[in-house]
Parts: sequence; C-alpha cells; structure tokens
Amino acid sequence: LRVLVLAGGLSYERDVSLRSGRRVVDALHAAGVQTELRDADVALLPGLRADPPDAVVIALHGATGEDGSLRGVLDLFDVPYVGCDARAARLAWDKPSAKAVLREAGISTPEWVALPHDRFSELGAVAVLDRIVERLGVPLMVKPAQGGSGLGASVVRAGSELPAAMVGCFAYDSTALVERYVTGADIAVSVVDLGEGPTALPAVEIVPRDGVYDYAARYTAGLTTWHAPARLSPAVAVDVAAVAVAAHEALGLRDLSRVDLIVDPDGVPHVLEVNVSPGMTETSLLPLAVAAAGLDLGKVLSGLVERAVR
Ligand code: DAL
Ligand code: MG
Repeated sequence: LRVLVLAGGLSYERDVSLRSGRRVVDALHAAGVQTELRDADVALLPGLRADPPDAVVIALHGATGEDGSLRGVLDLFDVPYVGCDARAARLAWDKPSAKAVLREAGISTPEWVALPHDRFSELGAVAVLDRIVERLGVPLMVKPAQGGSGLGASVVRAGSELPAAMVGCFAYDSTALVERYVTGADIAVSVVDLGEGPTALPAVEIVPRDGVYDYAARYTAGLTTWHAPARLSPAVAVDVAAVAVAAHEALGLRDLSRVDLIVDPDGVPHVLEVNVSPGMTETSLLPLAVAAAGLDLGKVLSGLVERAVR
C-alpha cells in the first residue's frame, strides 16, 4: 500500500496540520505502512492524476481540509481516503448547522445564535448584541461558525466584552457563533470505527493551566494538563461515551472523529462540536485517547487505511 498523508494547505491551522501530518507519517511508518507527506498545494491535483496513491489520510485542519472540498476532489479522482465523505464533513464543519442536527437528534448542545457579519452591521451592532445578551445571558462563548484550534474564540463574561469578542471572531469568519457558556469539565471523546461500529475511546479531560484552552494552551507543551481517562464517575463516563457515538452517527460520520463536550456539575454532557479531522500533534487529544485505550496510533491508522481501500 502506498499512502499519501495530506497536510499543510492554506488555512489558519496550517502549522498545526503540518505537525499532525508528521505525527501521522511517523506513526504509520512505525506500523510498517509506506507513506509520503504531501503539502496540499497547487501541485496536488496534477500529482494525484499522474500517480494516484492507494489511499489518502487527511491531516489537514481548517477550511478546505475540513470542510469537505478536498474530500470531494478525492471522490472525483476515485482515491479512497480515511474519514467521512464530503457532505458529512461540510455539515460537521459548520458549527451552527451541526448544532441544529445534534439538537434534532436529541443531543444537548448549548443554546446559540449564529450571526452573519452583514446582518450584524445592517441591524446596528449595539442593538443586536443587547438582544443576544438578553436572550442567552452571560457568560457567553463567541467563536467563528467555521474554524478550529480556538482561533478567534473568546469567553465573554460581561455584555461590555461582547463587541471586542465579535471583532476578534469576524477576523476569522464572516459568521459568528454566540453560545451560552456552560460551566463544567472540558472533555474530548475520540470515536474510532475499526470495523465493529463507532466506538468511543476513553474520554480525555482538559485542564488548561491558565483556565483558557486557547491556541497557545493547545499547542505549547506544559500549558495544559490532561486526565486520560477523564475524572468522571463510571455512570457519567458511560453516558459521555454514548453521547459521543450518537453525535458521530447523527452527523453521518465514519472512521474517526473527536467529539468535544462539556460535562456540567450534574454530570450532563453538552456537545460543543464534532471534529472530522482531529489534531494529531504531540499535544492533541485523539492520540492521548488512543494511548489511554492501550492502543497504538500507527496500528489504529493503518487499520483505518485498510478499511478505506477495501
Ligand atoms: N482543529 C484542531 C486541529 C483539532 O480539532 O484538533
Ligand atoms: Mg474543532
């Protein structure tokens, strides 16, 4: 098998993706799979046509890597890849759409408002923000409707902080997602399907040193501590695993995903988002969950590659 690992690209998460890509290549090599790391640049399409690989592992994060566009291209070239199809990726990538689907499926997700920039200017920023605070209260979480790695995201603890948070968010996307901030444990559940149906790996609990899991806290060694498995009661751990698998299925995903959620003080999980191209860096959560399950990342990935080419 000749596997192409795609990383880089031109999203805001390029650097993260390159780190994920290197980790994936190393893990697959260690598992005896022949791989090559390729930047997703303009040379990619002619390369795919001239010399199609047996399978692709997408280690791209952000925009084209995660929104389904690249998956659509691979479908056109008839190249198998690990992960969900283009349609499911597009759905999961757009947080407001994904949240609506999760809510329909009976999965709790914090109450939200999606606000396109145009509408924001049209209606008068101050009036709109007042209405949001009236409806959702504070604290709030503001984040780009499409994006990752905490870029453009911030916690708003008082209404007066909302305008600055919106500006920071609109720098990354033309639509903002404003969510009620749910207090609780920050949990990530990786879901993997090696042929026996989607299965939740041990939940990972995230404890950022400075209280905020922002870009620096995610990718700088020492800024975040993890508990894998998470410090949840056995009953809550079972619930959290079931909710993660339900979210993965509701969005029509396959092979692997990472479901990010908050477990409130009553032990109720609230899903924030589902990632179809989870980070694979040295400080990323899916590799931690794989290790906590006593599995080997390379073997898990090679198992997924084998399923993709079958
Ligand atoms: N967006 C980053 C890569 C993640 O979800 O892990
Ligand atoms: Mg994400």
